[in-house]
Amino acid sequence: MTLETPERIQSMWEAASTQMRERRHPDDFPALPDMPAARYTSEVFYELEKQHLWSKTWLFVGLAHEFEVPGSYRTYTLNDAPVVVMRGRDNELRAFHNVCQHRGSLLMKDEAGVSRNMRCLYHCWTYDLEGKLIFVPDEHYFSGLNKADRSLKPIRCEQFGSLVFVNFDNEAAPLLEFLTDIPTLWSDIPLDDLRLFERFSFEVDCNWKCLQDNFAENYHAKYVHENTIDKVIDSKTSALQMIRGGHNAIVIKSRGTLTSGMGAAFFKSDDDTAEQQASKLAEISRSGQRSYNVFPNATFPIAEYLFPIVMVWPINPGKCRVEVSFVKTGSGPDNEKLDQDTLTFFRSFIGEDLDALSGMHKALAHGGIDSIPLCWSEQFIYNHEQHIDAVIGRENIPAGLAVVEVDLPYAHR
Ligand code: FES
Ligand SMILES: [Fe+2]
Repeated sequence: MTLETPERIQSMWEAASTQMRERRHPDDFPALPDMPAARYTSEVFYELEKQHLWSKTWLFVGLAHEFEVPGSYRTYTLNDAPVVVMRGRDNELRAFHNVCQHRGSLLMKDEAGVSRNMRCLYHCWTYDLEGKLIFVPDEHYFSGLNKADRSLKPIRCEQFGSLVFVNFDNEAAPLLEFLTDIPTLWSDIPLDDLRLFERFSFEVDCNWKCLQDNFAENYHAKYVHENTIDKVIDSKTSALQMIRGGHNAIVIKSRGTLTSGMGAAFFKSDDDTAEQQASKLAEISRSGQRSYNVFPNATFPIAEYLFPIVMVWPINPGKCRVEVSFVKTGSGPDNEKLDQDTLTFFRSFIGEDLDALSGMHKALAHGGIDSIPLCWSEQFIYNHEQHIDAVIGRENIPAGLAVVEVDLPYAHR
């Protein structure tokens, strides 16, 4: 995998334009078999995802600076399990099951905060910031209790730049390996410097994959976003790259110069000459929208100053929660009006998506559609779904719920 370069993106845009002009399907792109509609509604499939996907994959949970000092923590419910991420006195970030090792009470109850220790409200068992049990009231009541054996149960926690991920699976490959080519594609992005600007979330009545799919294709942009995104970017001129591991990368040509925090973003690299830096910014930074799906549930529409990280979390087979964390790269102008305009613009077009998706669960769930055909510009959905099956294990999926395995043309390496 090479870096994103203006030349490569430009040539993919040209190919897309040619195909569009000649109204032909890319000859070297495989036909995508229909996907079973039941993947989006089946309780069985949902349980398989719980058992094999959410419990074994790296999940983005926040930014390092949200855990500013030793004792800074945040709590989560991930795959129904209570989790706490805590910065230790040694400055390490760690994740634990947020469960007291006495009789299983929920330990940290606030959403976030700074604490000197982790103290259970029930019988006051107290753990240090590294998860070790340090205090048991009337310890002599217990016969042979060894505090060293009763530390909080750890969960894997790793960082890529300032992005913090957790994984319930002790056997999982390290985060950087899981991200496959993403680190290379993001090597120009100042990831160490991301700071949370605003976070909000909302619930949607559809399967989490319907939402994730929505953030993985632009086929709908011209129709759903006619008066918002479509005015800004030319979704038909897109450079699409499926990436191994279920991730995706797209750069969509802008219709003019992208000026606000919305869009843009090829960052300068230290190795570039001043001239190269200037031409990168001139050529692509301000002429295309870069966006990445990070398997299984994150979307990063990267921009120069302010951009959202969009997470989709399942609640039940027919309901999900979308969590949007707007982050700043630290390189932008301090312009409150521009920031608010970016947020307003985002809220307006995500509102359009939600209108389009409303009623989708009911529509899918009652036998009115059996299988889902995907076009070339929806290829990222297939990559996502196929990788879900790989993680679950095809042998575990009942007949009629799996997607047919296709040799997908991944981005060249
Ligand atoms: S359950 Fe936590 S101290 Fe008893
Ligand atoms: Fe959309």
